[in-house]
Amino acid sequence: MTTPIEGLSSLVVGTVESVSPREFKVILDADAPQSTAMNAGIPRGFPRINGYILIPNEQGAVVGLISWIGIERSLYPKRTGLKDFGLIDLPFPTRKLSVVPLGTLCRSNENIESYELRRGISIFPSVGDKVCMPTIRQLRSIVEASGNNKRVVIGKAPLAENALVSIDPDKIFGRHLAILGNTGSGKSCSVAGIIRWSLEEAKKDRKESMELGILPVSGTDQQSEDVNARFIILDPNGEYSNTFSDIGSRVFKVQPDVISEQLKVPAWLWNSHEWGAFSRASSQVQRPILSQALKGIREGLSISDPIERRLIRVFKGRFLQLGSIIGQGPAGYSGFPARQNCGLLLENIFKESEHYFLMVSTLGVSSTWETGLNTLKGKCREVIDNHKRKEYFNDFSEPVLTHIHQEISSFLSVVQTEASIPDSGVDADSPVSFNIGDFPEYLEALAAEAGGGAATNIQYLIMRIRTMLGDRRFNQVVAPENDLTFEEWLESYIGKDQAQNGPVAVIDLSLVPSDLLHVIAAVISRIVFEAVQRYKKLNEGKELPTVLVLEEAHTFIKRDIADDQSSSASIECRKIFEKIAREGRKFGLGLVLSSQRPSDLSPTVLSQCNTFLLHRIVNDRDQELVSKLVPDNLGGLLSELPSLPAGEAIIMGWASPIPVLVKMKELPLEKRPESSDPDYWNVWVGLEERKLDWPTIADDWRQ
Ligand SMILES: Nc1ncnc2c1ncn2[C@@H]1O[C@H](COP(=O)(O)OP(=O)(O)O)[C@@H](O)[C@H]1O
Ligand SMILES: [Mg+2]
Repeated sequence: MTTPIEGLSSLVVGTVESVSPREFKVILDADAPQSTAMNAGIPRGFPRINGYILIPNEQGAVVGLISWIGIERSLYPKRTGLKDFGLIDLPFPTRKLSVVPLGTLCRSNENIESYELRRGISIFPSVGDKVCMPTIRQLRSIVEASGNNKRVVIGKAPLAENALVSIDPDKIFGRHLAILGNTGSGKSCSVAGIIRWSLEEAKKDRKESMELGILPVSGTDQQSEDVNARFIILDPNGEYSNTFSDIGSRVFKVQPDVISEQLKVPAWLWNSHEWGAFSRASSQVQRPILSQALKGIREGLSISDPIERRLIRVFKGRFLQLGSIIGQGPAGYSGFPARQNCGLLLENIFKESEHYFLMVSTLGVSSTWETGLNTLKGKCREVIDNHKRKEYFNDFSEPVLTHIHQEISSFLSVVQTEASIPDSGVDADSPVSFNIGDFPEYLEALAAEAGGGAATNIQYLIMRIRTMLGDRRFNQVVAPENDLTFEEWLESYIGKDQAQNGPVAVIDLSLVPSDLLHVIAAVISRIVFEAVQRYKKLNEGKELPTVLVLEEAHTFIKRDIADDQSSSASIECRKIFEKIAREGRKFGLGLVLSSQRPSDLSPTVLSQCNTFLLHRIVNDRDQELVSKLVPDNLGGLLSELPSLPAGEAIIMGWASPIPVLVKMKELPLEKRPESSDPDYWNVWVGLEERKLDWPTIADDWRQ
């Protein structure tokens, strides 16, 4: 039997020649392996780029990553054994390595054969220290790294004797994962694999715990095995329809088939920003009316309402508008065109108070209301007269506007108490359902009521909404015939209690018309985010772990978007994902994003991703970007990126203390996302049949 020290000495392959904090140079012994090492138990490639070496010290050993292998001439050969001084040493080529320090492999506890990798190096080696090859067990400890919750095996490390590479789902999903790489490099398979393997492992663990009696057995056998997980996949290419069918997935499509349901994102779910972005409403004139209309229609108001409701609606709207002007500070009411807009608003308030004053006094409804309107009217007139020169207004000041604001507010409360209309608590963004078909008319009537050119301003908006409702493809999604309640929507898209309807929801966006795509993605992800926020609020601060998966993330979170109105939907979409990236973690909402164009992604989102799985990346702009994500001295590892085969990737970041090259586990064909390349050749030569029938296609098109 060999002692540990003897075992160690058989693994010595060289000595340290120079040491700097970023890099060590190592001279290999003349008898160190040339390309295959036989001294490490089983044959193993050595030396090899991105392979590991150890430099033992009293703590354990410094781990280094080989970044360069070469031959340099040396004046003296490095010979072992007794030196024969009778011989003349000729200049001799020696093999050298450059090594990047990775961390320290420490012996854990007393157990001499178990190790743990720690980031950072406290004791640097010195010149002349021996350099060893790691044993298999040491290699595995390096790759398997620290952390005891590495529960899910995702693949093997080919550079470390095929040690298993596993991840901790808490880490990988808890702080956002980015999967980057060219098309065909295996991103979608990795996404599908990581989700599947995590769910399978969780299921196994749950079953074991129940068998051991740690968990109570609940429900039927099938139910009790189901894991309480939530994955929501936004799938712009429609690749994932069949991928998770065996573990319980719900698939939503624009044109449903046997395995999928109709995608429904009713327009009443949208908040005022999403409505604004979709209808390209301009921020000054159209958005306030749009918000007011949304609030009104959600409250169930209609144009033929009794006078008190109308009063409240009109003056509440003005109250909000004026409030937002005051909120902007001087920019809202001084300088051109702000002071002009502010003046026009005051004139509108004046006209409305005059109009309703007349109406209230003729009808003789209430004398307090009459007084209120009269005061408001007088105040407005006074302010307008003080600030008006011919057609133009001078700058306003805050106290003056605040005064009118208070006047409106006290008038509103008088009406509210007297007519005993409680404030419904519903606002323009509340997910209260309404009949979308009625909306354009309501909006039009409201604009007419507001006066001041609002009706003409709002025409374009109304036209867009009418077009949307007229288009059959839009219609099914945004105004479905069998409308569902908000609760039902949450249950089917985010998942039921205990994930009874399966842990995965696939939202196939492939046939969503392009002008709607961003709005739909924004609405779904915003609701998911707000849902987990509310869950936490109502459940004593406990989160509901949920993962939002963004395939082809560059579609949703583009870095550069032209800032015009036609792109306001994509800006809205990017904003919500940036918000989720920043704040999702607090509420247990993790992001997994996959993209082939990392340099096109929003830097805010990318910088919030803490774990990266890098597949083959050829483009140099993208390579440059990812190289900025790793610590400087590890950049060398990434030089392998352009040559990675499909299904291999480098994992690094929060879930993996050191970058490791993994060969992902094989996914069986039927469990892969469908993205196979089109079969040109076989179709050309007739090995595969393709019947072509234009009339059917044309028919389908025309419908
Ligand atoms: N883990 C894996 N298991 C099995 N096949 C894989 C795996 N990773 C990649 N592949 C192969 O690579 C091909 C392209 O992978 P895919 O995930 O569609 O790439 P991407 O999403 O990056 O375009 C797949 O069709 C599959 O044949
Ligand atoms: Mg893909």
